[in-house]
Amino acid sequence: MTMTGAARVILVANQKGGVGKSTTVAAVAEMIATAGKRGRRVLVVDGDPQANVTMEDLGVEGDQGRSLAATLQFGQPLAPVRDVRAHLDVIAGGPQLAVVGAAAHLMSENGIDMATNLQTQLEALCAAEGYDVVLIDSGPGDVPLLDTYLSVANYLLIPTRDDQASLGGVERLARRFWRARKRGASIELLGVLLFQVNQQATKRNEEVLGQVKEMLDGSGTEPFDVVIRSNPAAAVDMRNLHKTAGELVALAHDERRSRLSKLRKGEKPQRSMWASDPTGLAADYQELVRQIVARLVRYESLAATAQERVG
Ligand SMILES: Nc1ncnc2c1ncn2[C@@H]1O[C@H](COP(=O)(O)OP(=O)(O)OP(=O)(O)O)[C@@H](O)[C@H]1O
Ligand SMILES: [Mg+2]
Repeated sequence: MTMTGAARVILVANQKGGVGKSTTVAAVAEMIATAGKRGRRVLVVDGDPQANVTMEDLGVEGDQGRSLAATLQFGQPLAPVRDVRAHLDVIAGGPQLAVVGAAAHLMSENGIDMATNLQTQLEALCAAEGYDVVLIDSGPGDVPLLDTYLSVANYLLIPTRDDQASLGGVERLARRFWRARKRGASIELLGVLLFQVNQQATKRNEEVLGQVKEMLDGSGTEPFDVVIRSNPAAAVDMRNLHKTAGELVALAHDERRSRLSKLRKGEKPQRSMWASDPTGLAADYQELVRQIVARLVRYESLAATAQERVG
């Protein structure tokens, strides 16, 4: 399975907060960047004033969102933080984005088009850097910023928890998605991802998946055939240690070895991690990445066929 050609831009969004947007962006970005011998080049755009994916998940200081804000408002070139991991760069988020979001209506009244500004600079950066995948993380609240990202992205991935409030966020976002398409955006719905799922509650999970399928009816998309399991201890570790799910597995391995060697030497082992075993969680993300790539390949071959017909 191969992905070729220009960068594909995936927006991860839900109008409800705390549904796993940032955690998922970091985990997926890191796995795509480190998969295979060569690894694909990945750019994370943190479009959230909270800057969680920048500071908490990836542990990057960043610029308070200044670069992205200047791109949105003035069309300035994007300035990535380079090599935060192998093959992985970041456009930092932060409070400067809230300022831009709040001034959005003034900008549009004065002929400033944030979406065009971002699209132009993102294309220029991708052409210069050769990114294969761009992942945009978005905040739960800021509607003008969200609409801007919906205009720029090629694909939309919606994580959700299984409570009614989160599913309501999916529904509201789905309406925004269709409105963006009507305005001419070329964004496709990549899928809905159930996040922080209790794997024992199989009945409940089936019911929720049924609800999501109903919501997606007519979109040509199914929910992802993998859920992200709940693992609160691993979640605390990821944020404290600025590690993704995949990186936590490697860390747990190293820690086990150093504990054993300390115990052998009669020294007291230190513990930095809470999670006893993050392997299952990382495997969920691995399977998600596999399904994302498969869906991208399918969409791209459909688009290629359509173009052949036209051309
Ligand atoms: N597998 C997991 N199990 C349980 N909790 C998790 C898991 N993964 C992440 N979390 C925690 O869930 C919370 C929400 O995750 P996250 O910040 O990614 O959501 P979000 O949608 O980006 O939130 P916001 O809308 O505020 O940007 C965080 O505290 C995170 O540490
Ligand atoms: Mg977030």
